Amino acid sequence: MIKRVGEDQVGAPETPQTSVDLFLARYGTDWWRDGIVYQIYPRSYGDTDGDGVGDLPGIIDQLDHLGRDGLGVDGVWLSPIYPSPGFDVGYDVSDHAAVDPLLGTEDDFDRLVREAHDRGLRVILDLVMNHTSDRHAWFQASRASREGPYADYYLWRDPSGHDGEGRPLPPNNWLSFFGGSAWRYEPARGQFYMHTFLVEQPEVNWRNPAVEEAQLAMVRGWLDRGVDGFRLDVFNIFLKDAEMPSNPELEGEAGTSAWDRQEHKYDRDQPDFPDLIARFRAIVDEVPGRMSVGELFYGGPETSATLSNQNHLVFDWELVRAPWSAEEYRGLLDRRQTIFGDDIWPTVVLSNHDQSRHASRLSASAGIEDTDAIARAAAAILFTLRGTPFLYYGEEIGLCDVEVPFEEIIDPPARRVEEGWVWWNRDACRSPMPWTGEPGHGFTTGRPWIRFGDDADTRNVAAQVTDPASVLGAYKRLIALRHDRPSLRHGSLRRQEIGGPDVLAYMRAADGEQTLVVANFATADTTVDLAPAGGGVWRPVGGSHVQPVAPDGTRSLALRGLEVAILERG
Ligand code: NOJ
Repeated sequence: MIKRVGEDQVGAPETPQTSVDLFLARYGTDWWRDGIVYQIYPRSYGDTDGDGVGDLPGIIDQLDHLGRDGLGVDGVWLSPIYPSPGFDVGYDVSDHAAVDPLLGTEDDFDRLVREAHDRGLRVILDLVMNHTSDRHAWFQASRASREGPYADYYLWRDPSGHDGEGRPLPPNNWLSFFGGSAWRYEPARGQFYMHTFLVEQPEVNWRNPAVEEAQLAMVRGWLDRGVDGFRLDVFNIFLKDAEMPSNPELEGEAGTSAWDRQEHKYDRDQPDFPDLIARFRAIVDEVPGRMSVGELFYGGPETSATLSNQNHLVFDWELVRAPWSAEEYRGLLDRRQTIFGDDIWPTVVLSNHDQSRHASRLSASAGIEDTDAIARAAAAILFTLRGTPFLYYGEEIGLCDVEVPFEEIIDPPARRVEEGWVWWNRDACRSPMPWTGEPGHGFTTGRPWIRFGDDADTRNVAAQVTDPASVLGAYKRLIALRHDRPSLRHGSLRRQEIGGPDVLAYMRAADGEQTLVVANFATADTTVDLAPAGGGVWRPVGGSHVQPVAPDGTRSLALRGLEVAILERG
């Protein structure tokens, strides 16, 4: 069993009484469990040199937006900041130990860490350790020859044979998630290399001890520079079956990708992966308060919960997939409770750099036009569920997906269209942050690398920062409320059977405090009888709206359309 950070911290109860006590005894009060993490896509946050691409000084300039006098989040996760030729916009890394000159200097990075820490913000780096760029020095050496120290740094295999015209055939049926075979022939070696993503992103060979040693040395290097933790890109595919057999083919539904029509038995979730991740964790855990969060690459909450035993956190994608429907959310919360129980700590995520922004996605799923109303209601749920909330820059002002014309598309897979399969253009959720209504929106003095949304003149931070009724106003209130209430930060969650079909209700409880959350998913007003939630008087403490409603004397709660009420027992 891996020792948990904070397991023996002062303040953990000696004789655990409740599931929450057990949880505290196990985890202590680490910031990553009680806190909130905010993801920044560095190219889209602030551009200080006018090249249209965000940079590290641009992030430093905006740290006050995030700290205690602003939003009040606890940690900042930076999407990759390393040198990259940009085929997967930063996720194709050519040097994992350095800062991309496009984004700034090494000194800029060290200053960012210092300035973030000064504001009480932790810094989480995105580690892309499953693959490198094909421009990485390791791969340059590895592809050149079957001899030498880097020859076995990648997944090289001989052809399985040759076709009628003498062309080499791939070693097995594995596929790239971005389309086509997962294998690319390299004439210099007379072998294929494997890539789950683009051909420019060759997969490293984690089964080579020298690779593991080099990766962990790189991890130590960043920790020595004061980094507080890591998000691990596609971590459950680090290891493949050593023999690399073909994956079983599945009966796929029409319209699914070829990748979806395989059972990924041999190219992900290998039985010895937990041992590898434990070796990584041992390094992170050398200093209390550091954390890691694994990006589950395909997999449900069961896999997320299982892997959470070896990690601080593992993303679970159910909320990202769920439409705006009380019925769906009720089912989702029940599954979460069954799978994670009171002991395993989940994440709460609505948006990230790979997904449609949730203001757009949830509104479209319910046919509701008022994206701000959905954003405020979704936020009230996000900050009151059990788990660590991960925010994605821009969601705090209700940013929607931006329509990018085909000729401007940057996201590489979006330019590749295969029969029966069209890749969603991720540029839509990566447009720059609009800080003001001025030209360039306080983001750049140049031409932004991705266009702004049509509403950036009015939807920007400056326009919302003093408006309590705005999405930003709601985020600030809800984050402050979460920080104030132990039951919201680390309490248990029990779903409540109250209200009609469009109502979701749950109770959070910890340290003798109870908080009841009642959400109306419909646009029409509704009345909810609170009696099934137990006796006593309920008082509003917050919610999606500026003025929370109070239940009347008979404890019947009147909710406006798309209103979430947060109540405490009086
Ligand atoms: C997962 C990242 O979230 C995604 O943006 C990227 O394209 C793939 N990993 C490949 O690195």
